[in-house]
Amino acid sequence: MAAEITKVDGATVRDDFNAINAVLHYTRAAHFIGLWKSERELITRYLPDRNARLLEAGCGAGRVTVGLWHQGYRHLTGFDFAAELVEQAQNLANEQGLKDLTFLQADATQLSACHILYDKLFDGVLFMFNGLMQIPGRESRRVAMRELHRVCRPGAHFLFTTHDREDPKDVKEWAKEADRWARGEQNPRLLEFGDRYFSDENGNTFMHLPDRKEIFEDLAATGWRHIHDRTRDELASETPAVRNFSDNCRFWVARKG
Ligand SMILES: C[S@@+](CC[C@H](N)C(=O)[O-])C[C@H]1O[C@@H](n2cnc3c(N)ncnc32)[C@H](O)[C@@H]1O
Repeated sequence: MAAEITKVDGATVRDDFNAINAVLHYTRAAHFIGLWKSERELITRYLPDRNARLLEAGCGAGRVTVGLWHQGYRHLTGFDFAAELVEQAQNLANEQGLKDLTFLQADATQLSACHILYDKLFDGVLFMFNGLMQIPGRESRRVAMRELHRVCRPGAHFLFTTHDREDPKDVKEWAKEADRWARGEQNPRLLEFGDRYFSDENGNTFMHLPDRKEIFEDLAATGWRHIHDRTRDELASETPAVRNFSDNCRFWVARKG
């Protein structure tokens, strides 16, 4: 009997991030790449108060949270659902003797299960390097956006990134993918048009690529107000190390209330 093909779900993604190649990849980034210029530029523009209580969702091995500590922020909490990455983030902070930052294992779609976060109110929240789009299923991404909204004070900013499905260089590829979906010949593990699930030297990666309309609808449906968006390349000229680590992406800034 043929094995049943299952859709990618949160457990698949968590297992992929806990796998050795992914852990090495994100740990190297946390140790040797740190904050990108574009991230620094947007963070200091929208979260200028170094005393702000900031929450980083999908903190991985600590690249952004530890980078924020070095920018002078002192009330930092990072969480990730991949235990192996959280351990790496904690090791990095310990190695550098950093205090005043907290790393937790938690799932962005189930924050109410995390007692430490339950009654906290943050001044800002970040979900960088496309982590939000690595949640399979639009409704689950909306659950995460609502959960992050719930743990923020009114006026808090939410910064996140996506890959652009409407990038002109990819239009032909997406047209071919639309034909595959129309014929029912897409990868059966995908949930929605715009999803990708691929393997490379860093392991397996699930990623949803949204269009603009979808992000506007999801922000409105989860209580966030769109403030600003720009591509990384519009914001800054990144070093070769950053460009090797990641393709261009779009930064979004939203506000609670
Ligand atoms: C592309 S990695 C980025 C890691 C880190 N922020 C960086 O920039 O190096 C995305 C991260 O989001 C995390 N993630 C994805 N879905 C999540 C969820 N539902 N809850 C918590 N973390 C999640 C993954 O485990 C992974 O560490």
